[in-house]
Formats: sequence, structure tokens, C-alpha cells
Amino acid sequence: MTAPAVTGCRICGGPVTEMLDLGRQPLSDAFPRPADLDGEFFYRLAVGRCADCTMVQLVEEVPRERMFHHDYPYRSSLSSVMRAHFTGTGRELLATELTRPGAFCVELGCNDGVMLRTVAAAGVRHLGFEPSAGVAELARGQGVRVRTDFFEEETAADVLATDGPADVIYAANTICHLPYLDSVLRGARLLLAPGGVLVFEDPYLGDILARTAFDQIYDEHFYYFTAHSVRAAAARFGLELVDVRRLPVHGGEVRYTLARAGARTPSPAVADLLRQEREQGVTGEAALRRFAAAVARTRSELVALLRSLREEGRTVAAYGATAKSATVTNYCGLGPELISYVCDTTPAKQGRLTPGAHIPVRPPEAFADPYPDYAVLFAWNHAEEIMAKETGFRAAGGRWIHYVPTVRVR
Ligand code: SAM
Ligand code: TMP
Ligand code: ZN
Repeated sequence: MTAPAVTGCRICGGPVTEMLDLGRQPLSDAFPRPADLDGEFFYRLAVGRCADCTMVQLVEEVPRERMFHHDYPYRSSLSSVMRAHFTGTGRELLATELTRPGAFCVELGCNDGVMLRTVAAAGVRHLGFEPSAGVAELARGQGVRVRTDFFEEETAADVLATDGPADVIYAANTICHLPYLDSVLRGARLLLAPGGVLVFEDPYLGDILARTAFDQIYDEHFYYFTAHSVRAAAARFGLELVDVRRLPVHGGEVRYTLARAGARTPSPAVADLLRQEREQGVTGEAALRRFAAAVARTRSELVALLRSLREEGRTVAAYGATAKSATVTNYCGLGPELISYVCDTTPAKQGRLTPGAHIPVRPPEAFADPYPDYAVLFAWNHAEEIMAKETGFRAAGGRWIHYVPTVRVR
């Protein structure tokens, strides 16, 4: 079964030119049981660029209910760095945008409550939208008010009717997941108070291109934003890009702030990033063509390295059964014959197999039991945190294999 092909830009209807084909791919967060390999869903993973509004986007859309459901395994709170990031974000929103009595904060994709628990603990009115019922329940356990539902124009109208306008609508690693961004932006425009803001952070195309981070491309990441493409999309729905901030998390992100058009004066950071994007050609086709060539080089080098290690009889495992790694294993054809297992802290992934490639997932305790000779760092965006706790691996003679920005053994 395949998903329907998208013929025009999901934002403006303009022509989308395909720039990179990463082949037949499974759902990146669907980890089958060993006894249950039939019925995996596959689609064609390819990115294109809209000639009219520059938005980089997938050319095939996976139905949202296949990705976000009761058993969606991703848990935001499993990383200590991300917990600290979101606690800081909650405090900042409380200090800047949520200061009036009765202020109201809505979060899209609140997951296990990693950000909203700080807002809830401050006694501020809030609502998390989280369609994945399993993680939504974890958020409720943190004292967070959650609606198990998809945010879009209709559900936004509902919230406006019951709770009134929102001072802040916040979303991390969620807006880029929503192909129906038109409906989401219409909903946000409707729900925002006249002086309110939509604040969202997602992987930045500039960083993806600069680092050849092709594994940021997978089913859930439908859009790959720049200040240019976000500004153009916002303008279509009566919103204006009024601030941008680069963030170091998840391999390089940008936090965008949108307000109703004319409501706020854009900060100098907006013009700075727009200029930088023009100078670096981030929004053009040529940068994507160079990226596609670099991605193919990474694949040949990684496959050659893993094959030669196998021929030498070395043991090779991986660290972090990330959604990103589904793209790497399936695009490069890496299965259990090249990577024996992958260690991961997520309970719902352990004892299962990785999507499509079927590499067994083990708990992190298995990593030292015994250490492999080499470990591919699939969770490279959490490198600092992982290196800090896995010092024993290198001490025992183990070596990390990196593939972002280039293939290296360290
Ligand atoms: N915000 C968290 C973070 O940054 O770690 C979670 C990000 S997770 C990658 C994306 C979340 O968005 C998932 O928990 C998913 O269920 C949720 N989601 C998907 N579609 C949504 C929608 N239309 N409205 C609100 N949440 C949605
Ligand atoms: P992410 O890159 O989408 O945040 O996913 C990170 C994955 O890596 C997730 O499955 C949890 C796992 N992980 C570990 O196994 N150990 C760790 O120390 C961290 C931070 C993440
Ligand atoms: Zn477009």
C-alpha cells in the first residue's frame, strides 16, 4: 500500500520539484515485534522544493493516524538536555508572554508534558493538544490539562469557544509534522488573542544542509523550514514573522515567533537571518542539489566502512533507535548483518525491531554487556549527553561511528 503523491505545494499550490529520493521507507516510529513483521506500512520518502514559496516538503504524505496514535513511542522527557531546554522554555514564556492575570497557553504536541508541566505548576491556564493517547496520559500524570486530539482549524475554533483566546500557542518539533499547515495557521490566527503569539521550533533547513543531516528527513518531518519559507507561509494566513532564534537542540533548530500581521514590530534577528539565508543560498535549488550529492557520498562511505568492519570480524552495534535512523538504515540498506543491535532507553522500543531494517532494540544496560567494538551513533543530536554517560565504552577500546556531518570513526 502506498500513500497518495502530492502534486503541488501544500502551502501555496505552486509546482514542487523533487530534489532527493530516499526510497521506500517504513513508518519511522513503528517498531514491530519479532513475531509480527507482516503489514509494515511503506511509502516513498522524497523531498521537493516549491518554486513559488521555496517551502521544502515531502512529496508523499503519510496519513496522520498511522503515525500518531495510542502507541506512538516517542517520549520527550527521556533526555535530560531536552528536559532542561523545555523547563527553560516554560519559564521564559511565563516571564514574557503569560504575565497577565488569566493568561492562557496552548501547546501543540505536548507529548509527555515536558514543557507544559512548568506552566501548570505555576498555576497558569493551559491546554495541551496531544493526539497520541499513550503519551497524553503521561502528561496528565504531570498535572497537565490535555485534549487528546489533533490541532487544526476546527479544534482551534472549539477551544476559542470554551476557553477564550490564547496569549501563546507553542509547539516544539510538531508544526513541521503537519502537512495541513494551512488549517493549523488558520486555527492559530483564530485562537490567538490580538496581541498573542504562535511560537514554534523545528529542525532548520540551513543546519540540515550545512551538516548533510539527511536523517532529519522522515515521514513525520513533512516540512523543512527557513525564515523565508515560514515568513511566506505566515503571510498567506494574516500572520507575520516577528522573531527568530537559532537553537542548538536536535542538531540545529530555529524558534519562530509569529504574531497577527501588524501587531508587533519584527526584531532585527528576522532581517539578519533572511539576509544570511540569501547570502548562503539556503532557499535555492542549487543548495539542495549539492546536499543530494553529499547524501549519496555519505551512504557509500558508511556502507563501505560497515562492510569492511564485518569482513575484519569486528562487532558493530548502534546507539539510539531514533526515528531519524529509520532513514539511514533503510536508505543505506543496513540490517542486522551489519549492525547487530541498537540500544535505546525508550521502553516501548525495547524488545522490538527497528522499522524496515529489523535490527533488534535492546535496553541501554545491554551496551556494556559486553561492549561492541564499534557503535554507530544514531542519536547524534544527543551526543553530549550520551558521551557523558557512556565514557566506559571508549575506555574499553570501543569506537564511535559518526555519519553527520561526514563519516568518521572516533
Ligand atoms: N513537543 C515534544 C518535543 O519537542 O519533544 C514532542 C514532539 S513529537 C516529535 C511530535 C508530537 O506532536 C507527537 O507527540 C504527536 O502525537 C503530536 N502531534 C501530531 N499531530 C498533532 C496535531 N495536529 N496537533 C497536536 N499535536 C500533534
Ligand atoms: P530523538 O533524536 O528523536 O530525540 O530520539 C532520541 C532516541 O534516542 C530516543 O529513542 C531515545 C534514545 N536515547 C537513548 O537511548 N539514550 C539517551 O541518552 C538519549 C538522550 C536518547
Ligand atoms: Zn509553495
